[in-house]
Amino acid sequence: MSRVKHYLQFSDFGRDEYDHLFARAAWIKEQFKSYRQYWPLIDRTLVMIFEKASTRTRLSFEAGMQQLGGSAIYLNKRDSQLGRGESVEDAAQVISRMSDVVVIRTFEQEIVERFAANSRVPVINGLTDDHHPCQIIADIFTFLEHRGPIQGKTVAWIGDANNVCNTWLQAAEVLDFKLNVSTPPGYGIDPIKANLHDSSHYQFFADPFAAARDCDLLTTDVWTSMGFEAENEVRRRDFANWQVSPEMMRVARPEALFMHCLPVHRGEEVAAAVIDGPQSVVWDEAENRMHTQKALLEYLLLGRVDASTTPL
Ligand code: CP
Ligand code: NVA
Repeated sequence: MSRVKHYLQFSDFGRDEYDHLFARAAWIKEQFKSYRQYWPLIDRTLVMIFEKASTRTRLSFEAGMQQLGGSAIYLNKRDSQLGRGESVEDAAQVISRMSDVVVIRTFEQEIVERFAANSRVPVINGLTDDHHPCQIIADIFTFLEHRGPIQGKTVAWIGDANNVCNTWLQAAEVLDFKLNVSTPPGYGIDPIKANLHDSSHYQFFADPFAAARDCDLLTTDVWTSMGFEAENEVRRRDFANWQVSPEMMRVARPEALFMHCLPVHRGEEVAAAVIDGPQSVVWDEAENRMHTQKALLEYLLLGRVDASTTPL
């Protein structure tokens, strides 16, 4: 079982593997846009186990798997034995004998790790409290489409040092760019959860404007992530000065992009004028979840498919 390749956090893949995924995502996107069928995963089944809400992740995996010729089955805790105490280990044994790949959205990172340790098939992290790797593949692919390679660029993260921030931190290490991070006091990076190898790719700024200065990409996320709803009111007060505003966009480079994984709370973490403005690429970012995850499914199930030999 240990030889199965899983995707549980961004650092599970190296730069060379991301270069492959970005090239494949571009090719797969082109087929989709041209209405050309590409069905390499006929008869393959994706199981999606979601313990938290989702629009983009669920839809992009489900639609993506079908477009590759396979099928997808959605399970939630309420309707399965997972909600009645069946262990993660037992569930992994059974589910992985009836499927070819599994996506899990859950709370603790440990849950996806325990599932993967008992799975015969690849397991993909569809978001945990600590990481959201599929999101950042799409984000960096979107940057690549609009601005070219991200290596050597500066990305500013404004807001909560949450699962999405941890994944950006890992991506900065793997893909060699700089991440400026600004969070309110008490909401900073947890190096254990972020699981970083060194601290040379990120810099912390107490002032969000200082973090945003001259960056190539500004990005943020909700102030209250799923599972932390009880802290909503306190967080609204604590994060009030960490809104990405038009004034903040103006200190970034003139060609800087704005990204947000969505869903968004306009008027909280970002002003409507920014997310609905000309520098925002959030709709491309959301669409690219599907194209990049199709490349990920292809890679985990079929290995390195060469574009020149891909049958149409
Ligand atoms: N960005 C993202 O993962 O969205 P969903 O929660 O809708 O899946
Ligand atoms: N940080 C957010 C991301 C949602 C896609 C959350 O975990 O709720």
